[in-house]
Amino acid sequence: MSDLPRRLLVTGGAGFIGSTFVRRVLASHADVSVTVLDKLTYAGNLANLAEVTDHPRYRFVRGDICDPAVVEPLAANTDAIVNFAAETHVDRSITDPSAFIDTDVHGTYVLLEAARRHAHARYLQISTDEVYGHVAEGSSGEDDPLRPRSPYAATKAAADLLVQAYHVTHGLPAITTRSSNNFGPHQYPEKIIPLFVTNAIDGEPLPLYGDGLQIRDWLYVEDHCDALEIVLAQGTPGEVYNIGGGTSLTNLELTQRILDLMGAPTSLVRHVPDRPGHDRRYAVDCAKLSALGWEPRHGFDEALAATVAWYQAREDWWRPLKSGEYLAYYRHQYGDRLAAGIAAE
Ligand code: NAD
Ligand code: DAU
Repeated sequence: MSDLPRRLLVTGGAGFIGSTFVRRVLASHADVSVTVLDKLTYAGNLANLAEVTDHPRYRFVRGDICDPAVVEPLAANTDAIVNFAAETHVDRSITDPSAFIDTDVHGTYVLLEAARRHAHARYLQISTDEVYGHVAEGSSGEDDPLRPRSPYAATKAAADLLVQAYHVTHGLPAITTRSSNNFGPHQYPEKIIPLFVTNAIDGEPLPLYGDGLQIRDWLYVEDHCDALEIVLAQGTPGEVYNIGGGTSLTNLELTQRILDLMGAPTSLVRHVPDRPGHDRRYAVDCAKLSALGWEPRHGFDEALAATVAWYQAREDWWRPLKSGEYLAYYRHQYGDRLAAGIAAE
């Protein structure tokens, strides 16, 4: 018998982390059924769910979490919502935050209302360490103030506050997780690791923002999903749980490790003008989650090597993505920056 709620509605389940979660839950929980609700934005990809398409306990529904007419009937036959659905890329939120406000804030509200009305056993909100903002030293605890500094982080923080309010006001058994930077197979190639790996495969420049000394904590996606299953089964309603991988690197160090793994030259690195408002450092304290028995099972170097190898082997997955809308985005985002360049510190 599984300790998870039996009927899960997984929103954003065609994205990077959501699809990993869905594949794992179906494989390891024989009495859990999963309905994925996903709008299939540029970041949603049914290829991520190809291996479960015909699974008897899986169903896919294309739709928008902002639309109550779509959400309501699904929520009526659900024990718990796990909300991965979001606009997720900081750079895109700087260019145009409107979809972030719609999905990350309003969409969360629509899901919370449905979960409340149907008295769900759990609501799990997948949030981010970016809500804490830049952390000069030490690490963020779950009770630290939220100081989001990008439009993306602000919309995720707004959603976190709504989740908390629904717990306090309506008694909704809602839990929030805040994880650090994920990496692994199936990550859309706009994020630094898949972008740099796929660019390096093609001998294209790796656009490193500013001095490259910004620090991120790296979490393998499988370790993240381990943590989510534990929190969904054992977490306390109303609580927030940080999830971090424990490997802090500057972007420059990360880039060098990717180049080393690929045997690619450092000359590919191009320092370009920085992301506006770029947070220098994130770090999370995961003691609360550790007390539930979680720790990352994958070493960073092995997980990064496996991720690089996956992208090297799966050009069939990422080449189609690096076309069309992506090329327009890439030119807009990087054209001037790459042309301008900046001197390395
Ligand atoms: P992703 O961008 O790969 O996938 C997002 C998914 O949400 C896509 O399948 C997309 O189609 C879907 N979606 C977007 N808008 C929707 C809408 N209105 N209705 C229904 N579906 C919609 O994202 P990801 O990296 O897998 O992140 C998943 C969640 O985890 C997000 O909430 C994100 O904020 C959070 N998170 C991500 C990271 C990370 O490093 N990737 C770290 C911490 C937290
Ligand atoms: O911290 C968790 C967050 O991690 C999640 O909430 C977000 O959804 C996810 O996108 C990620 O946000 P980041 O902004 O940290 O991810 P990104 O891969 O875009 O950038 C990682 C770091 O690399 C950041 O310091 C910016 C830098 N970077 C990024 C890109 C795309 C570059 O130097 N060059 C680039 O081209």
